Amino acid sequence: MVQVKSPYWQKVVDDAQKHPAVPGLETIPFFTMAPMEAVTDSVFRRVVAAAGGPDVYFTEFTNARSITHPKAKFTVQGRLHVDKSEKMPVAQLWGDRAIDFEAACFDLKERGYEAVDINMGCPAATVVKNGGGSDLIRHFDKAEEIIVAAKKAGLAVSVKTRLGFNQIDTFEEWIPFILKQDVPLLTVHMRTRKEMSKVPAHFEYIDRLIQLRDEIAPNTLLQINGDIKDRTEGLELVRQHPGVNGIMIGRGIFENPFAFEITPKEHTLDETLTLLRMQLDLYDQFTAEFGPMHFQKLKRFFKIYVRHFSYASDLRVALMDTTNTTQVRELLDQFDEQWAAQKASDTIAITTK
Ligand SMILES: Cc1cc2nc3c(=O)[nH]c(=O)nc-3n(C[C@H](O)[C@H](O)[C@H](O)COP(=O)(O)O)c2cc1C
Repeated sequence: MVQVKSPYWQKVVDDAQKHPAVPGLETIPFFTMAPMEAVTDSVFRRVVAAAGGPDVYFTEFTNARSITHPKAKFTVQGRLHVDKSEKMPVAQLWGDRAIDFEAACFDLKERGYEAVDINMGCPAATVVKNGGGSDLIRHFDKAEEIIVAAKKAGLAVSVKTRLGFNQIDTFEEWIPFILKQDVPLLTVHMRTRKEMSKVPAHFEYIDRLIQLRDEIAPNTLLQINGDIKDRTEGLELVRQHPGVNGIMIGRGIFENPFAFEITPKEHTLDETLTLLRMQLDLYDQFTAEFGPMHFQKLKRFFKIYVRHFSYASDLRVALMDTTNTTQVRELLDQFDEQWAAQKASDTIAITTK
C-alpha cells in the first residue's frame, strides 16, 4: 500500500480500508466527490452525506485572492462555510499568483481546513484568461511557485489537473513535473482542456500515469476523474488498473444521489423526495445566514431527485414553475397526496399554483 507523506491523506487511505472487502482488490480505493462550482456547497454536501456520501468532499473552487481581499472577503464566507455536522472538506482554490495562495492557505488553516487542492484544470475562458485553472498547464514555473507558496501554511496541498491544454501528449511532461513537486495527491481528469467534456475520458492512459507515479513519486496518491458514474464503476476501473488509489466522481451524482453508497440498492421515491426536502430546508437555513442565492441555482437540482418514476416529468415541469421553497414544498405535498390516491386510480394531475 502507498505510504503517503501527509497524515491527512494517509488517514483517508486507512479509513477506506474499513469499508467491506471488495473481491479482486487488495487495497480499497477512496472515493471523493468532485469540486463543482455552484453545486458542492455545504448544503449539497450534507444531502449527499445523507444519501451515503464519499470518503472525502471538495468545496466549489474559490478564488485564492478573494479569500483575503478586503472587498471580496465577505462574499466568500458562504462558499467556505462548513457545517458542524460535516466532515471537513478539502478546500479547492484557483488563481495565478503564488502570494494569494500563501495568504489564502493561512486563512483556510484558521478556518479549520486541513487540506487544500489547487485547480490546474478548469477550462472556463474567464479562469484561463486570468492565468488560472488549466492555463497553469502552459506555465510550469508559475504552477511550481503556487504549490511552494500554498505549502507554507502546513496544509496538505494536492493538485487537480487535466492531461494537457491542447495536446494529449503534454501529459508526458506535465504529469512528471507535478509529481516532482512532492504533493500527497494528484487528481487527473482524463481529458485535455481543449476537449472540455466533449469526448470520452481517456482511460487508456491510466496505466502510463501509474507507471510515472511509481517511478517519480511513489508516495503520491493517484486519483482518476472523468465519466465515472458511481462506486461500482469506480471499483471496476481500479480492478482494471491496480495502482489507482482514488476515484473522483462529479456528474454521476446528478444521475444518482446514492452514487457513493457502499452497497448499491434500489431506492424508493419517498427516499429521494426526502433528500429534496432536506435540501430545501438546508437551503433556507443557508440563505438566512449568508444572504439570498439565486433560486434558479436550486432548481437545477430538482431533476436529480425527480426522475425514473411515473409522472416524474409532470412533477419536474411543475417544479420548474416555482419561485421559492414554500411553493416547492406545497407541490411536493400535493404530489404525495395524489401519489397515495393514485394507488386506487389511474390518473394523477400536477397543477402549479
Ligand atoms: C457544474 C460543474 C462545476 C464544476 N466546477 C469545478 C470546480 O469548481 N473545480 C474543479 O476542479 N472542477 C470543476 N468541475 C469539473 C469536475 O470537478 C470534474 O472534473 C468533471 O466534471 C469530470 O468528472 P465527472 O465526469 O465525474 O463529472 C465542474 C464540473 C461541473 C459539471
